[in-house]
Formats: sequence, C-alpha cells, structure tokens
Amino acid sequence: MTLSSVKPPQAQVVVLDTGGQYCHLIARKIRELGVYSEIRPSETPAAELLGGRGIVISGGPASVYESGAPQVDPGIFSLGCAVLGLCYGHQTIAWHLGGAVQRGDKGEYGLAWLETLRPSPLFESVEGRQQIWMSHRDSVTRVPPGFEALGATETCAIAAMGDAARRIYGLQFHPEVVHTTNGKRILANFLFRVCGCTRDWDPRRQAERIQDEIRRTAAGRNVFFFVSGGVDSTVAFTLCLRALGPERVRALYVDTGLMRAGETEFVRNVFDSLGRGIFAVEDASARFLSALDGVRDPEQKRRVIGEMFVEVQEQILASGRYLEGRWILGQGTIYPDTIESGGTAKADVIKTHHNRVSGIQRLIAENRIVEPLHSLYKDEVRELGRELGLPEQLLQRHPFPGPGLAIRCLCEESGKPVERLEEGWLAPLHSVGVQGDSRSYRPVLILDAAPRQQDLHELAAERINRLSQINRVIALLESHVPAGSMTTSPAALCQTRLERLRRVDAIVRDAAERTGFDREVWQFPVILVPLGTRERPDSVVLRPVDSVDGMTARAVPLPGALREELCRRLLAEEGVCAVFLDLTHKPPGTIEWE
Ligand code: XMP
Repeated sequence: MTLSSVKPPQAQVVVLDTGGQYCHLIARKIRELGVYSEIRPSETPAAELLGGRGIVISGGPASVYESGAPQVDPGIFSLGCAVLGLCYGHQTIAWHLGGAVQRGDKGEYGLAWLETLRPSPLFESVEGRQQIWMSHRDSVTRVPPGFEALGATETCAIAAMGDAARRIYGLQFHPEVVHTTNGKRILANFLFRVCGCTRDWDPRRQAERIQDEIRRTAAGRNVFFFVSGGVDSTVAFTLCLRALGPERVRALYVDTGLMRAGETEFVRNVFDSLGRGIFAVEDASARFLSALDGVRDPEQKRRVIGEMFVEVQEQILASGRYLEGRWILGQGTIYPDTIESGGTAKADVIKTHHNRVSGIQRLIAENRIVEPLHSLYKDEVRELGRELGLPEQLLQRHPFPGPGLAIRCLCEESGKPVERLEEGWLAPLHSVGVQGDSRSYRPVLILDAAPRQQDLHELAAERINRLSQINRVIALLESHVPAGSMTTSPAALCQTRLERLRRVDAIVRDAAERTGFDREVWQFPVILVPLGTRERPDSVVLRPVDSVDGMTARAVPLPGALREELCRRLLAEEGVCAVFLDLTHKPPGTIEWE
C-alpha cells in the first residue's frame, strides 16, 4: 500500500520489523548516519532483498521459540550481504544458525555494562567497558557454529556475537537508543566497516529529486491539497508549488471550529506568503459543532469528528470544484504513516480519518494522488522545510491532534464532589490512559502542590502504581477554593466552554513562547475540566510533556516564574476555578486526556 509515486534512492540497508517499538528508531539512526534505509516486514522473502548491502533484524516483544513468533526467511543469511540482529534479532540469528536461546531466570532491563571480549570491526575504536541499554528476558546461551562471543555483561554471557567471515553479527542490547553510549559509533561501524555502505542520504538535498518526481507524477495535471497548518502538509504543498508553479496548485483548509485561537489566520499568513490566490478556507465549523451537540463520551466525540471530516472531504472531492479533469490530490503523508507495524497503530487510525477516506482510496486506484514526503521522517521533513525557507515558527510547531480542542474539553454526565482519600483527593473526572496494552478510563487523583515539583512527580508515580482505581495524578497549583470544596458539573461541548478553553490555551501558549519553555517540551496540551464551583465551574490542567514520537512521554515540571504567571493569569479568567499540573508519564497516562 506504500505509494511509490515519489521514489527515494534504493535502500542500502533494510530493517526487518519483528514488531519492536524501536524499529523506526533504528531506520532513523541509520539515515542520520547518511545511509538511506527502509523498513520491511520481517518475513520478506530473501529474493526481494537481493542487491542491498546490509540487513538489520529489529528487536521485538516475542520469544523466538514460541509458535507464532515473527519469522525471517533463513535465505537472508546466504544472500552474501551483512546482517545485524538486535535483541530479538540477535536471538533469531542464534536460533536459525544452530545456537541456543533460553528464557533467563532474571530479566535485564535498563542500563548495563558491556565488556568487549575480543577485537571486532563492530567495536572498532569503542572497545572495553561501556554503558549499554538492555531490555530482555530471553538470552542466547550458545553461539552458532562459526560465531564467537564478542561481548558480555554480568547477567548476559553473550551480549554480542559475530561471524566475521560471513559478516553476521548479533547484539543483545540496543545501539539505537541514546542510553547506549557508543551506540551510534557501533551502528556506524556496521554500516561503513562491515556493510561497506556509502553515504547517499541527506534530507536537505531531497528537494530537487522530489520536485522532479512530482512533475513526473503530475504529468501535466494540477495538484489540490487539504492542508492543516501542520509541518507535513505545508512542506508537501511547498514542494508541489515549486515543482509546478502557482497556477497549478491549490490548498484548502477546513475550519472545524475546533481549532486554537488565531489558527486560521496563522495558516492563511503562511500560505499567503507562499503565493497569491493559492489558498482558500472552507468554514465547516457550524456543521462540526452541531454534530457534536450533546456528545460527552470521548470515543463518540472522535467518531463524530472523524465521520464529519470524511463527509466534508468527500463532498469537496465530489463537487468537482478542484478535482475535475486535470486535478490530482496531494497529501503530506510521511513515512511512519505508510508502515503497518507495532508502533504505528495510532497513526493508522488517524490515517483512516484523513489520508485514506474512500474518496481518496478511489483517487489512489486511479493514480491521481501524489505524496511527496512518503519516504521521510518528521525530523527530515523539518530539515527539508528549513532548506525550502519555510518560517521556523511553522517548522517548530508542536504536534496538534486532528480532533482539535474537542478532545481537550472534558465533558461529564453528572455533578459529584471530590472525595478525600489518605493519599490525596479523588476527582470524579474521567480521563483515558494506557495500562498494559489496553485503554483505561478512570478518575484522577489530586495532590496538594508540595514545594518541590520534582518530588511531586516521584510521589505521583508511586501513587499511580499503588492505587488501581486511578490512571492519572495532577497537582493543585493554585485555586479560588480548596480542593475539598470542588465538585464536577454536568458539562458538554458547547460554544461557551470551547471559547473558554481557547482563551486559556492562548494564555498558556503566549507565556510558554515568550519564556522559551515551548522549545523545551515536545507538546503542551491545555485541558479544560468541569471541576470547580457553581460560579467557576471549570478548571485548567497544564500538560507539558517531553517525548520523541508521542508513543511514550515524560511529564515535565514547570519553571517557577512561568508557573506563577500562568496561575495569576488563568485564575483571573471568567469561569476558571483552579490550575492543575498533570504529573503523569505515558504510560500509564496518555498525552491527551481523551
Ligand atoms: P496520546 O493521547 O495517545 O497521543 O498519548 C499521542 C500523540 O498523538 C496525538 N493524537 C492525535 N493526533 N489525531 C491526531 O492527529 C488524533 O485523533 C490524535 N489523538 C492523539 C497527541 O496529540 C499526541 O501527540
């Protein structure tokens, strides 16, 4: 299903995906080292991998000896190209080539110390004792014939192994994560000393190639885009604009009425600065808001919004206004959205809403679509955008969810008081979390803000592990009344509350941008919760998080001065009772509350 309308170079190194959350990280690290790399399913037939210089088998959650565990085609070991197995991949190599893998008595998770045992091209210039990052219970207990153990930790006798003659190597640890001090060097050794790769990849140099491909795909036709104001659709559009000229491209922005303050103007300014007459706004806010009238359940909200997006897009596509005859559709789809693998389940859902609605499927079938960024990662899109001269303010924007403020405006069915527990206050507000592999929907624990926020984060982690009825912990920073006097109120998604959320969100964004705090965090959602008093029925939750890709996230403390300014300004707002800071990491809490 990957569209190859805009072809990148042939991948020198292919990463075989065995279901690990680090698969994309491996491919990204290899590209950062200047070598173009792509991901394929683990069971890809060896014949399809002919011609590459190297194969990396990723880590994954399964055990090689269990039935149903991800497989590789054993033919890959006789292709003559170099192979590197990481974690599960390391065990897969041992399993296929005559070594042994066993379940250990103890797992080894987190930091560990590796001792290299003998010289090897993989460890060139990084020999000796070094910090690595481990996450495994199974271990290789006997190396296959022809292999030697190359490194060990206290609990893992074969933490690295290799057969130099066949150029096949395995590492129990993860060189792709930053906690492995020499990880990048080890990967570079594999690429350049073992595989013999050449540097063929620099995202900043892709503009010309992609523009050529756009011209070829468009073949004289014009390109129409739905743009969101995000980095991806803007960079994709700019490439098409450059490739085809202003007469042959159009951008349409659908205003859902669920956007942040000033969003439509921001997007209009960006596009107006690219060229006159190429941009239009479709105001669908009344339709979205009336479809959401009275909807309180988070899943239902997402469904309604998703369906409305589809309806509006389909109508525009069917209207013939843009796609008649000589028009094709352009999209900002990026590489992780095109791969169906473990870590991208959420991307698939988002994609169904925006990038793969049925009208769009039809265009794909008719070869009337161009996705200029389909082989790039987000950081690569940013670098390319910088090269194209797009404003830094746009390139550095935090990700913003498709359903917009709707999923940051919490609704409740009924009014209930908070409840005193020994550990804090139990607020009868429900938010979504991820615990194990499933979604939870549970109440929130409120802690009184202690003097040091760092201690609060530790305290929160302890509470959440101990109290099974909650999935999130917040600290009360400041309020008009004590936590014990607050109640929830029956609340829905209405203009008044959306306006209130828009105002408080704008205050937070203004202060975070002015103090530079927004550049220290990956995302900073602001959530309106129906908790307070009769006069001030809502409160504000601040959710600054640090993350790499949104799959996991760390709750971040607020600097003292920013915290004081926000409390002062937010509590002066109409209807706002209290200001809270979300202390929950992901897992167990999701980044968004719904
Ligand atoms: P969660 O809340 O699952 O979010 O921890 C992880 C990241 O995904 C974003 N997100 C979405 N983005 N449509 C989107 O385009 C959605 O429905 C959606 N839900 C969550 C969220 O903002 C965070 O960056």
